[in-house]
Amino acid sequence: MLKTHNCGELRAENAGQTVTLAGWVHRWRDQGGLVFLDLRDRWGVTQVTVNQQTAPEAHALARDIRSEWVIQVTGVVVKRPDGMENSDLASGAIEVHASSIVVLNRAKTPPFYINKDEKVEEALRMRYRYLDLRRPSMQHNLVLRHNVLRYIRNYLGDRGFVEIETPILFKTTPEGARDYLVPSRVHPGKFYALPQSPQQLKQLLMVAGYERYFQVARCFRDEDQRGDRQPEFTQLDMEMSFVTREDVMDLVEGMMTHVVEDVAGLELVTKPFPRLKHHDALLRYGTDKPDLRYGLEIVDVSDIAAGTSFRVFADNVAAGNPVRGIRVPGLASYSRRELSELEEIAKSAGAKGLAWMAVEEGGESPVRSPIAKFFTPELLVMLLERMQAQPGDLLLFVSDTAPVVAGSLDTLRRTLAERLNLTDPKKIAFCWIIDFPLFEWNEDEQRWDPSHHLFTAPMWEDVAMLDGEPGKVRGQQYDLACNGYEVAGGSIRIHDRQIQEKIFKLIGLDPDIARERFGHMLEAFEYGTPPHGGIAPGVDRLIMLLAGEPNIREVIAFPKTQQAADLMAGAPSEAEPAQLEELHIRIADDVTEKS
Ligand code: AMO
Ligand code: AMP
Repeated sequence: MLKTHNCGELRAENAGQTVTLAGWVHRWRDQGGLVFLDLRDRWGVTQVTVNQQTAPEAHALARDIRSEWVIQVTGVVVKRPDGMENSDLASGAIEVHASSIVVLNRAKTPPFYINKDEKVEEALRMRYRYLDLRRPSMQHNLVLRHNVLRYIRNYLGDRGFVEIETPILFKTTPEGARDYLVPSRVHPGKFYALPQSPQQLKQLLMVAGYERYFQVARCFRDEDQRGDRQPEFTQLDMEMSFVTREDVMDLVEGMMTHVVEDVAGLELVTKPFPRLKHHDALLRYGTDKPDLRYGLEIVDVSDIAAGTSFRVFADNVAAGNPVRGIRVPGLASYSRRELSELEEIAKSAGAKGLAWMAVEEGGESPVRSPIAKFFTPELLVMLLERMQAQPGDLLLFVSDTAPVVAGSLDTLRRTLAERLNLTDPKKIAFCWIIDFPLFEWNEDEQRWDPSHHLFTAPMWEDVAMLDGEPGKVRGQQYDLACNGYEVAGGSIRIHDRQIQEKIFKLIGLDPDIARERFGHMLEAFEYGTPPHGGIAPGVDRLIMLLAGEPNIREVIAFPKTQQAADLMAGAPSEAEPAQLEELHIRIADDVTEKS
């Protein structure tokens, strides 16, 4: 090794030892007869002093050294005088008095500061990702990711799980996104698809008798990018045989509890994880991935609204739609401008308007509101009771179809929670969402779509309704939500060929296409398939939440941009004409013109 110690480990006890350190020059100050160098490696920072009197050669060299040069320093560990310790550094009790310095490599001036956690334009960070990753905050995130995965591997290994790799070059996998295709040279005109998840393969591993499988699996989905989505991302993919949904949920709940408390050292605020029915989650939070770090629950007031003379409310309820609201403590003092800003937020989520009431004390009316005049005193009292309103509260209501009411109140809840500082990143709140409908009606295509994927089993007691009332069938699906994100999805699977074929038929999958795409699954199911189920936590989203970061790019070493590009290497890029020829691919003329 070119070093005897790392830059984070020297303490007062090491005083008097001669050590050799190597790393990057984090900071550098020339004070004439003394040069101070902060030397950094992955483990920390150590202060080095170079004295002109005692080490003239090293001192001369040190004066020319600049930030981010790679150097090796040999010297003696000296305890800093009382009162001169630096409590910001783990090694702050000591410094190293250099006797010799070797410059291992010089560095150009970096395009941004590495020694300061300053906001840097993201495109620049991505272009020089290797420098961005040198920053202590990024190193912290990637080490956290490693620690969590290492813990999980042991946790699952200890419980009889086997890690098995599955192919990346495979066939289309139906997770609802577009596939990434890879042309085959050997089979002209044919394509592999990169897996959207190892779903089929893990089910086949259950047929193969492995009983407990997991994989830290890379998945590929060509879909519109968002802060919590990447074209390639990582799942902790798991599958188990002879289990019910309770078994899968219990195992994951135990694992996540340890990960949050023991590995990340954060506070888990929901223990045990609450279980919400999909229908109730939408009613109470407007979303199937609620943030349970705070309340601001949605309350239904349709029955009260129906009796008012406010046409918007009364007509909407008469048409079978809801009026629902939330109570926001302390915001009764919001100004007109602030209120119309909230209305715009609700409108951006589809609402036609936002009705508000500021609850006041001592006035003629208990509320100040443009719609108070439409309420009789009795109805107003009922409304305030239903909302559990207190003086100082702001009440917000949306009247529309159920999905629009849910979506706009969800958006308002999230916005207001941020403003009221209710979203502490040190707190983690998981909840399970269960009892999803097995299908969603696709209005455009006039057919049923699977709401999870087409291998999800119906609740066994609902199977009879598959024929007459598919919309009422519940799936044996469970999602894990955390701090407002979906962090895992899974289900008990269909292990019976007849039910599987019935589902294909219901979702309008042509039997020939079903056989072409999934014939191998249907065939396998005839050779003794155990009942089985599984789940796949999204590793990137989980680490993002544990690291308190706002998007998953902060916890992935080399992520893609929102446009699915790698700015460092310049991917995607054009292929050589010879490569295209070998693959029997011709680029269409209009593409050449566009680029
Ligand atoms: P699902 O499609 O719900 O289920 O995905 C599981 C989890 O993966 C994460 N995830 C993503 N993370 C980052 N970028 C993306 N583009 C992205 N897409 C999904 C989410 C999600 O909860 N085969 C099933 C699992 C199963 O049934 O066992 C599946 O893939 O956190
Ligand atoms: P108007 O009588 O149209 O001026 O509306 C009075 C108040 O009701 C305004 O604050 C509107 O934003 C609000 N409002 C209008 N439509 C709706 C709706 N669909 N849901 C909730 N509030 C609404």
